Amino acid sequence: MPILDQLAIALHTVTAILWVGGIFLVFRVLRPAALMLEPPLRLTLFKEVFSRFFPWVWLFIVVLVVTGYWDWSARFGGLEATPNYIQAMHLIGWLMIALFAWLYFVPFAQFKRYIEEKKFPEAAVIMNNKMRPIIAINLFLGVLEAVIGTTGLYWL
Ligand code: HEM
Repeated sequence: MPILDQLAIALHTVTAILWVGGIFLVFRVLRPAALMLEPPLRLTLFKEVFSRFFPWVWLFIVVLVVTGYWDWSARFGGLEATPNYIQAMHLIGWLMIALFAWLYFVPFAQFKRYIEEKKFPEAAVIMNNKMRPIIAINLFLGVLEAVIGTTGLYWL
């Protein structure tokens, strides 16, 4: 296999690990641990964490899309005659990207504004009602993507 194709597969895998692993850490580990902090400090911590993690997620998205379509056309002959699991991978991938884009531009932008204005109860509502469900869905979809990507070839 050409070295560039191998590089695309490696980058796709590593980037998926970093995105989904990052969500897992924040959602299942940092969030419960941070409950020991008073709300203003806790919410400010999350603003700082997300402000650093989300630019990385944009980079992960670019790499996943470029390497995913690269691999698709190199090994599976392009969009025609493609196994169903690859179709599922890219549809779920775009759903994850759309959810992240909405999270970033709508509730997260509002959350940051409330923290800067020191409106902590309002920021907490945005975090619990708007941001948390999207993050939970993307964690589930990201794990599903990993299962599809690694086992799809053996389904039939
Ligand atoms: C959005 C467009 C995407 C496309 C076109 C795409 C395409 C592909 C292709 C062609 C494969 C190879 C399957 C095989 O070897 O049988 C693959 C594997 C994989 N994909 Fe994606 N993918 C996309 C998004 C994502 C996303 C968002 C994630 C997770 C966050 C992800 C995670 C994986 C994993 C873990 C594998 C298995 C390891 C590997 O081959 O890299 N993919 N993907």
